[in-house]
Amino acid sequence: MDNFSFYAPTYFAFGKDTEKQAGALIRRFGGHKALLHYGGGSVVRSGLLDRVKESLNAEGIAWVELGGVKPNPRSGQVYEGIELCRKENVDFVLAIGGGSTIDSAKAIAAGVLYDGDFWDFYEGKRVEKALPIGTVLTIAAAGSEGSPDSVITKEQGMIKRGASGEAYRPKFSIMNPALTQTLPAYQSACGITDIIAHLYERYLTNTKEVETTDRMIEALIMAMAHEGPRVIENPDNYDARANIMWAGMMAHNNSCGVGRSQDWTSHNLEHELSALYDVAHGAGLAVVMPAVFTYTMKHDVTRFAKIANRVWGCPMDFDCPERTAKAGIEALRSFLISIGMPKNFAELGAKEEDIDQLAQTCCWGSENASGKLYGFTQLTEDEVKEIYRLML
Ligand code: NZQ
Ligand code: ZN
Repeated sequence: MDNFSFYAPTYFAFGKDTEKQAGALIRRFGGHKALLHYGGGSVVRSGLLDRVKESLNAEGIAWVELGGVKPNPRSGQVYEGIELCRKENVDFVLAIGGGSTIDSAKAIAAGVLYDGDFWDFYEGKRVEKALPIGTVLTIAAAGSEGSPDSVITKEQGMIKRGASGEAYRPKFSIMNPALTQTLPAYQSACGITDIIAHLYERYLTNTKEVETTDRMIEALIMAMAHEGPRVIENPDNYDARANIMWAGMMAHNNSCGVGRSQDWTSHNLEHELSALYDVAHGAGLAVVMPAVFTYTMKHDVTRFAKIANRVWGCPMDFDCPERTAKAGIEALRSFLISIGMPKNFAELGAKEEDIDQLAQTCCWGSENASGKLYGFTQLTEDEVKEIYRLML
């Protein structure tokens, strides 16, 4: 296991009615005037926004609001939020929604305290300072409620990039699983897929002797394989929702990724798909993961055979572990299809003729790009094209 430091001080309020604590938690973490940031309307329709406002009013916390965050959140609204916060002397940013809203809130929180263009953070500059951030989570998926990351799409060129820094870890996150019961089945499935991807991308490591985190990852994927179909079948299943919600946080606050190298190839390839076609991140990952794993399997067949056997129950073929490894990838693919995820470019709405462009942006699209992807294995632009072709 590699050396690491790990400090993840987010306060979690988990369970029924916890959104009522929003005002008290903002006060506890030093806020006086909050930006209430939310998405396209689900929190208005469900009455959640009003309940949060009531909670802030009860604690004497002033607020201004900015709704309309789109899935795959855009830089344009981040600039708008930064301006609003400055004008209104906002000292706390509360995101009410999913990963897109939380990520937009994070970008605004950093941008307010930064003299330059906030996009610098999405070109590799580390986030050192941000206004304090709180979240009220409405979908179990991205894990942004506990992560130090944010992903934003720049309209100019439709470039989707991530930024990181400890200042991006929320001060608190309110996690009421009942809030996720209004999710359409497709969005629930996208979330489950993203959670599984966060676990696989950590499992695919070149670090030896990491049995503790290996086992944590395996357990969480198995829990998703068990709970996923239960919420697709019955969206009101609170207990299944609760298990998925906590797994989503655990999968991505890095508790199971410390002390080991990680992959992120699937995420890199997927971000190009969601930038170009505006598809849901989880749906993109469902198409990307089996292709990436099929291509990179030869790099460490034993690792793929291990997860196939331990998580998906594929019998270990000691004479030909490759057979077990392949069976594991097929088991993952079948599971994702069974919960309603797309399986190829066509079902995603992606086009074969865009493959060159996708691979080019993926390998060269950011200022500090080197033309290669570095993760579990190194990939050239031509190899990235081959992987996209496996998704046809
Ligand atoms: O906008 P509203 O009306 O709220 O509708 C949303 C949106 O259409 C809807 N929704 C959310 N909660 C709901 C609900 N509908 C009914 N009932 C509810 N309770 O679901 C749709 C998707 O929401 P979104 O926030 O986009 O989903 P998700 O949490 O999957 O976030 C995806 C974004 O997170 C990024 C992705 O790239 C993508 O941009 N990621 C962020 C990460 C991070 N910050 O650590 C890591 C991830 O790997 C990921 O890349
Ligand atoms: Zn993800």
